[in-house]
Amino acid sequence: MTATPLKNDRFLRALRREPVDRTPVWLMRQAGRYLPEYRATRAAAGSFLGMAKNPELACEVTLQPLRRFPLDAAILFSDILTVPDAMGLGLYFVEGEGPKFERPVRTHEDIARLAVPDMDRELHYVTDAVRTIRRELDNAVPLIGFSGSPWTLACYMIEGGGSENFSKVKALALNDPAAMHRLLEVVSDAVIAYLDAQRQAGAQALQVFDTWGGVLSPSMYREFSLRYLRKIAQALPRGAADSDEGRTPLILFGKGNGAYLEELADSGAEGVGIDWTVGLGDAARRTGGKVALQGNLDPVTLYAQPDAIRREVGRALDDYAQGNGGSREGHVFNLGHGMSPDMSPDHVAALVAAVHELSAR
Ligand code: CP3
Repeated sequence: MTATPLKNDRFLRALRREPVDRTPVWLMRQAGRYLPEYRATRAAAGSFLGMAKNPELACEVTLQPLRRFPLDAAILFSDILTVPDAMGLGLYFVEGEGPKFERPVRTHEDIARLAVPDMDRELHYVTDAVRTIRRELDNAVPLIGFSGSPWTLACYMIEGGGSENFSKVKALALNDPAAMHRLLEVVSDAVIAYLDAQRQAGAQALQVFDTWGGVLSPSMYREFSLRYLRKIAQALPRGAADSDEGRTPLILFGKGNGAYLEELADSGAEGVGIDWTVGLGDAARRTGGKVALQGNLDPVTLYAQPDAIRREVGRALDDYAQGNGGSREGHVFNLGHGMSPDMSPDHVAALVAAVHELSAR
């Protein structure tokens, strides 16, 4: 990677808790069906997976939201389920039903067969997409790579798709914790290899989505989710601080992680992403400047009118500053979870403008 400086490095500076001119903002699921141009690319590609596995199309949909809104980061267009797919589970999507696996993990033999996939052979389309996006971004903003958390991936691998109550994965964890840990060990090794491959291909920040950690009791969360988040934060190579790209920050996002912020701040990650059920001010007080915080507007706020969106953005920015000793530094603005297909692009524009205007230093 050449040493061309980023034109906009607010996002990376905020993750290092360094001063910025405005609070950076990006949105989880910022590329997606709420954009007509995404729907057109997807229709031309024929399917979501056809698009995600084609580096040129993945690059195109990654850039679409950046052409509309002055976002401070791009996020690779892909999916967390590419990893279990590469482990041989056979990912497919049923229209209106979400992701499914042809061969879910059900037995000890299924677990014993799991291995860290060969990144070059099985996931080359992802690192190709990272390289293509970096070239097309031309250093305008940093590119975020990502993975699912081991626990969240295990949920899909064992349930075979989405789930109402996570009965199969929780039953396995309770009945046979040793088998569950064998699965989580190999999945966390795969996550580390996957994030490292994205970093080496040019991803400038990395995020782990622990979407389903919050469905666990505290003792199960610590045993089956947090332990592996910590393993990733400690084992994942970040590059040398004095390399062209600097150290690559890792953000741990978790839905329902509000009870564990102190532990997440001590995990070794550079950033913690939170949902809207915890206040940014409380989160800042409890994490005491050990990590940058990312979040946390309730995504449903985007269904309200632009003046209400602006008011809630202001409230979140000020809440963070109050808990952070009066300073806005160390905050990356985001939603508390991903966007939905029926949200209005005009309301997204209002949100992004409000973040930049109301946080100007
Ligand atoms: O943020 C971004 O813009 C990057 C792209 C991204 C996608 N999925 C694209 C996608 C990211 C970061 C993800 C992560 C992901 N995928 C998570 C964790 C984040 C979260 O929301 O909690 C999870 C749990 C998944 C699994 C998954 N993939 C689900 C539940 C679905 C939705 C199925 C549906 O029909 O709504 C997907 C498919 C998916 N991944 C879509 C997109 C844009 C929709 C696919 C389509 O176009 O039909």
